[in-house]
Amino acid sequence: MFSTISKNFFLYVSQHKGLNKAARKWGLKFGAAQVVAGVTIDHAIQTVKELNDKGILCTLDHLGEFVNSTEEALQATEYNVRTLEAIGKAGVNSHLSVKMTQLGLDIDREFCVKNMCQILDAAKRTNNFVRIDMEDYAHCQITLDILRELREVYGFDNVGTVIQAYLYRAHNDVKDLKGISLRLVKGAYKEEPAVAYQDKKEIDENYMKIIKEHLQSGSYTAIASHDHRIIAKVKKFAEDNDIPRTQFEFQMLYGFREELQESLVKEGYKMRVYVPFGDDWFGYFMRRLAERPQNVGFALRGFFSK
Ligand code: FDA
Repeated sequence: MFSTISKNFFLYVSQHKGLNKAARKWGLKFGAAQVVAGVTIDHAIQTVKELNDKGILCTLDHLGEFVNSTEEALQATEYNVRTLEAIGKAGVNSHLSVKMTQLGLDIDREFCVKNMCQILDAAKRTNNFVRIDMEDYAHCQITLDILRELREVYGFDNVGTVIQAYLYRAHNDVKDLKGISLRLVKGAYKEEPAVAYQDKKEIDENYMKIIKEHLQSGSYTAIASHDHRIIAKVKKFAEDNDIPRTQFEFQMLYGFREELQESLVKEGYKMRVYVPFGDDWFGYFMRRLAERPQNVGFALRGFFSK
């Protein structure tokens, strides 16, 4: 009961435009620094260095919500290019993750594709890889279409995306995307029963099904989950089926299950941490609180200590 109320509350607050806007001026508050790596590129690069020193790879995400002007989308594009250049210059090991709504997807499809091409050009120049995060169901098909266009029409091979196991379509999508690097997740948005499983057990089953599908097709697979049960099953499946450890990696969010991250590295698995940064931290932080009421504890401690 509490968890449903708190989930709805934090999801509601995460979408509040006024609060998101105001929070940009506050700096990281309420313990957000535990899950957001600072507000500037320099902060982010410093965090990547610290994680790299522990044997952990990264993917940086410059946070941004509610982009609905071309000016903001161009700024976000430029910021992503600068982030790739900073990664190259610092010589750290980090990919880049982007959300296409931040790059103008809801404004104009071609404008967004152009922005993606600029980012992918910068990634090529700096020998890097860009992952397109998957957003809500309304953006799923267009995201996959643009991914294909970027790869097949524009010839970029340094780009992949994310497939969400809660969607009924996930298994077919994974089959269609054979050979392409995919991050596989359970799915973070609230979707209707018409398009998505609602039951945790069914989502977990579909999650394992798509992981096995992509691994067995010989495709590079990032398993992005904090669920130790899923991780244990993937490890066993890879061992039983002679899937080399170079063909997959585990991924987790910055600030989550750090002991598990480090123990996977010690066992010799590739571990990549998704490192969000930037002054637009509020919505991301509230969604993390919605996902897991236990996280509210550290938010409250952060609130009182700031
Ligand atoms: P889930 O929340 O289902 O938890 C399962 C169990 O794991 C829990 O019951 C608990 O036992 C254990 N557990 C989980 N978290 C724990 C913690 N912090 N401490 C201790 N135990 C814990 N989504 C999306 O829609 N589009 C995207 O592009 C992405 N990208 C993405 C990147 C990365 C790197 C990650 C890790 C996740 C995403 N996601 C995402 C989010 C994803 O879809 C999903 O919502 C969350 O990862 C939560 O699901 P989990 O599989 O982590 O475990």
